[in-house]
Amino acid sequence: MNDGLTRVLFVCLGNICRSPTADAVFRQRVQERGLAARIRVDSCGTAEWHVGKPPDPRSVAAARERGYDLSPLRARQLCWEDYFEFDYLLAMDASNLDVLRREAPLDYAGHIGLLLDFAPEAPEREVPDPYYGDGGGFVRVLELVEAASEGLLAEIAHRDRS
Ligand code: 4NP
Repeated sequence: MNDGLTRVLFVCLGNICRSPTADAVFRQRVQERGLAARIRVDSCGTAEWHVGKPPDPRSVAAARERGYDLSPLRARQLCWEDYFEFDYLLAMDASNLDVLRREAPLDYAGHIGLLLDFAPEAPEREVPDPYYGDGGGFVRVLELVEAASEGLLAEIAHRDRS
């Protein structure tokens, strides 16, 4: 859609750990730069298990430590309309990227890719799922998402100029 608004959807499995973190971090960057009227941010999961639930308390706590508020977010599942409403569909890992590609309309003209494509300096290509880990994974999610947020903002600014 070419109406001056760029729409970004972050996608993980449950929409309670990684993509809500990306949602809150990127939203804050957008607000800090005065771009809230130009960039819309949302997140979802490819699975339905946690629909309607708030983010995982471990994600909420780790994000709060760094100044991000995940508390208003509620999980929802990827739906068909998302392909018509979002310009960027950014998966946290390869399996969710596969789902995004498999479900996409043949003529989807937006960008489907991995979030960490916007953090080429990071050693990882996927944001590791922290759900069953020892807790340290939640901080790593934040670090990776912060790095990719800068690259994604630069990409959107570049696209808006060209
Ligand atoms: P997320 O993490 O995809 O980053 O939200 C997960 C949340 C829940 C589950 C797996 C991953 N789960 O198996 O319930």
